[in-house]
Amino acid sequence: MERQLKTIFPSVVQISEVEGAETLNRNLLQTIEDIRSVTPNARPDSWVSSVYTTLNSADRLHEMPEFAPLRDIILREASDFADTLRLNHRQYPLRISDCWFNIYGPKDGQEVHLHANNLISGSYYVKAPPGSSGLMFHSPMDGEMLSPPYTEMNALNSMALEMPVEEGMIVLFRSCLRHSVRPSATDDERISVSFNLAM
Ligand SMILES: [Fe+2]
Repeated sequence: MERQLKTIFPSVVQISEVEGAETLNRNLLQTIEDIRSVTPNARPDSWVSSVYTTLNSADRLHEMPEFAPLRDIILREASDFADTLRLNHRQYPLRISDCWFNIYGPKDGQEVHLHANNLISGSYYVKAPPGSSGLMFHSPMDGEMLSPPYTEMNALNSMALEMPVEEGMIVLFRSCLRHSVRPSATDDERISVSFNLAM
């Protein structure tokens, strides 16, 4: 008997280490502190934790000269990811829709969500001290009410997977892929710059 197993509808995440991230992060931290000192927390009421975010306030960071080096990295990485996805971005160029930063204090996290009306989303990690949470991805097939007993957890049966994050790491994924952040286990701040791209 001939039998085939086919993996269909896989979820792909692109993870890159940015070269020269130390200098980049030092400059970004300064600008982030400057913005934070004059920008009230724009956290939506529906968010559970008290994470500080400039979502919906300072969300055009990619237009600021101070963020130009990171913007170029985002566009370069998104271009490669778009090639992987076979998006026709040569004919219909990708553009950054919005770009903002998030500061997670002690016990701050982020509920499961996705980024509607975009194609590619991602985060760059400016500060990720030991004990800070990774980026948790949730399977599009996690409709099971309870997790049955498994002999082994792997890519075929896991409903969630936490990617550890490090300073200087840039993570890209399709905007429809749901994700979350576990409550931070450190008193140190975890700082990420998040962004969306559309055609
Ligand atoms: Fe997100």
